[in-house]
Amino acid sequence: MKNIAIVYHSGQGNTERLARQVAVGAGRIDGVTVEVIPAQELTADPERLLAFDGFIWGSPTYLGGVSGTFKSFMDATGGLWRTQKLKGKIAAGFTVSSLPSGDKQTTLISMLTFSMQHGMIWVGNPFLPERREGVAYEQSLNRLGSWTGLMAQGGHSAANTSMAEGDLKTAEAFGANFATVLTRVETEAEEVV
Ligand SMILES: Cc1cc2nc3c(=O)[nH]c(=O)nc-3n(C[C@H](O)[C@H](O)[C@H](O)COP(=O)(O)O)c2cc1C
Repeated sequence: MKNIAIVYHSGQGNTERLARQVAVGAGRIDGVTVEVIPAQELTADPERLLAFDGFIWGSPTYLGGVSGTFKSFMDATGGLWRTQKLKGKIAAGFTVSSLPSGDKQTTLISMLTFSMQHGMIWVGNPFLPERREGVAYEQSLNRLGSWTGLMAQGGHSAANTSMAEGDLKTAEAFGANFATVLTRVETEAEEVV
């Protein structure tokens, strides 16, 4: 059995909604367990990360980067970085912002860099946009055209957590793909130097 942690921060519910949809997709795959954990809990106890084989990071995009709360979680893993205890584990990331672009890419790159510094293996969002097959834009898989990780467009406030059907569909596929990759990869890092 491989264990996945979906570690997220959500100020107003949009990122949490996406986290839960990613969990639905990952949970469809045999041989994995999935836990959805607020980043704040792990900031207080980063050693909890050691129990997992794979991580899916989730943060809203705030001013073109991860939220301060999510960054605090990242910084709390400094001790694990020094000992490289997370090396060889599998990681992926997703973000939500209110604008079509909103500089979401920078948020994903920040999660990618964080994972690379820990010696992890990155999994993207490998889906061609379904729009090209004539599916309506709002309903199409990977409609925002992001391969580095999963992107979704959310509301401006808690009162508006509406999300396009296509983004929720992509979240489920993203979770299922990540879990499938995880079942195929050996996550115990071997010493190479
Ligand atoms: C401080 C702050 C900064 C934000 N910066 C951006 C931004 O750079 N780009 C964008 O498209 N939306 C931005 N937003 C909007 C949020 O990304 C959006 O509302 C998102 O759905 C929030 O996710 P949440 O409900 O999980 O908190 C910002 C919101 C806040 C509160």
